[in-house]
Amino acid sequence: MPLSIVILAAGQGTRMHSNLPKVLQPLAGRPMLAHVLETCAQLNANETHVVIGHGAEAVRETFADHDIRWVEQAKQLGTGHAVAQALPAISDKNTALVLYGDVPLVRAETLQTLIKAAGPAGLAVLTASLEDPAGYGRIVRDSKGRVTKIIEEKDATKAERAISEINTGLIACRAHFLKTWIAKLSDDNAQGEYYLTDIIGMAVKDGVAVHTSQPDSVVETLGINDRRQLAQVEAALRQRNANALLDAGVTLVDPLRVDVRGRLECGHDVTIDINVVFEGNVKLDDNVSIGPNCYIRDSQIEQDCQVLPNTLIDSAHIGPRSQIGPFARLRPETFVGSEVKVGNFVEVKKSAIGKGSKVSHLSYIGDAKIGKDVNVGAGTITCNYDGVNKHRTVIGDNVFVGSGTNLVAPVKVGADATIGAGSTITKDAPEGELTVARVRQSSVKGWKKPEKKAK
Ligand code: UD1
Ligand code: CA
Repeated sequence: MPLSIVILAAGQGTRMHSNLPKVLQPLAGRPMLAHVLETCAQLNANETHVVIGHGAEAVRETFADHDIRWVEQAKQLGTGHAVAQALPAISDKNTALVLYGDVPLVRAETLQTLIKAAGPAGLAVLTASLEDPAGYGRIVRDSKGRVTKIIEEKDATKAERAISEINTGLIACRAHFLKTWIAKLSDDNAQGEYYLTDIIGMAVKDGVAVHTSQPDSVVETLGINDRRQLAQVEAALRQRNANALLDAGVTLVDPLRVDVRGRLECGHDVTIDINVVFEGNVKLDDNVSIGPNCYIRDSQIEQDCQVLPNTLIDSAHIGPRSQIGPFARLRPETFVGSEVKVGNFVEVKKSAIGKGSKVSHLSYIGDAKIGKDVNVGAGTITCNYDGVNKHRTVIGDNVFVGSGTNLVAPVKVGADATIGAGSTITKDAPEGELTVARVRQSSVKGWKKPEKKAK
C-alpha cells in the first residue's frame, strides 16, 4: 500500500528556552529532525510531509537538500490541526503514518510493525507502558481490553491518570479515514486545541478496528520537550550506538563514554578508550586502537594504527601501522602514509607525509609534501604563509631536517639532504648535501660578566 508520512514539527519548544526551533536542536551532533528523516528513508514512502511553523524558514533551509513536502501551519492549534494541514495533498487510498519531530529514536522496524497492525482497514497506535506516565496521553480500554479512546493528561480523571499505558503519538491509518475524522475535531478541551488523539474515539464509534503495537524498547517513544529529556535521549542514543559497536566486535573500554555523532565503521579488533568523540563518517580498519580523549571526524584510519591520547583528527587519511599522538592535531587534507609517526604537539594541515617518515615533536607542517623515510626534527616549522598567500614546502625522500628549522615556503629540499639544526631555509636545499643556514657561533675571548655597581 502506498505510504505517506506526516511529521509534526511546528511546535516552538518553549521549554527548551532557546532561539533555535526545537526540531533543530542537536542530538548526537545532528538536528533532532534529521534522525526522524533518516528513519523515514528506510520506509520507502511515496512522500514525506513535514508540518512546520516556529522557525519554519530555518528548518526548511537546514533540510533544503531533502525531498520533503513542506506544509506551513501558521498557528499551532494542536496536533489534529497540524495533520489537517498536510492531508489535502495526500491521496485517500494511501496509508498515512504520523510521526513527531520531537520523538527521534523510533526505529524503522517499529514503524513497519505499526503500519502492518493498521492494515488496509484499521487504525494503529504505538503505545508503551511507562513507570511514570506523567505528561502523556493515556490509552483507555474497556473491560475486554479494547481501546475506547485516548485521554490527554490535562483532561483525565484521577482514575485515568493511573493508567500506565501511554500514547506515543505515532499512528497509522488510511488517509481517507483521517480526513473524515479530523474534519470533525473540536477544540473543546482543557488546552483549547484540536487533538489528533480524539480520532481514536471516533474510529471506535465508526466501528473501525483500533490496534496497538509496542516498540521493543521504551526509549523509542521518548519525546523531547525540555533539556533534561534532550539529555536523556542523547544518553539513550549513545548507549544504542555503543551497543551496536559492541555487537559488531569493537572493544569499548567504557560504552558510556564514547560518542558517535554520525557513522562509525570498524574492522576487527578495534579498541576505543574513554571520552572519544566521532563525528561525520569515520572508518577504522582492523586492529586500530584509539586512546582516551580523542576527537575524530570524517577520517579513515587504516589497519594496525595507534592513535594515542588527546589527539584530534579531522578529514584525514592515515595509512597502516602509523602512530599518531599523543597530543597531535591532524587538520583537513592530511594524508599520512604507512608506518609514519606524528608525535606530540605536532600540527599537520593539507600535507602528505610519506611512508616511514617521522615528525615526532612540536612541529607545524602545513601545505607540505614530505617524502619517504624523512626525519623532521623537533620544533620544525613550515612557514607556509606570507601574510597574503599560502606556499608549498616539498621535502624529498630520506631527508634529515635538524631540530628548530624554519622552512620558508615556497621551498624544496632535495632527496637525501640534511638540514642543520636551527636553520632558516629560504632557498631550495640541494639533494644529498648538508645545508646550514644560521649565524655562525662565535665566542668572545676574555669577556667578563658585568659586576654589580656599589651604591
Ligand atoms: C502529544 C499527544 C499525547 C502524547 C504525546 C507523546 C496530542 C493531543 N497529544 O502530546 O497524547 O502522549 O504527544 O509525546 O496529540 N505540533 C505541531 N503543531 C501543533 C501542535 C503540535 O506541529 O499545533 C507538533 C509538535 O511540534 C510536536 C508534536 O506535534 O512535535 C507533539 O506536540 P506536543 O505539543 O509536544 O504534544 P504533547 O503535549 O507532547
Ligand atoms: Ca511532546
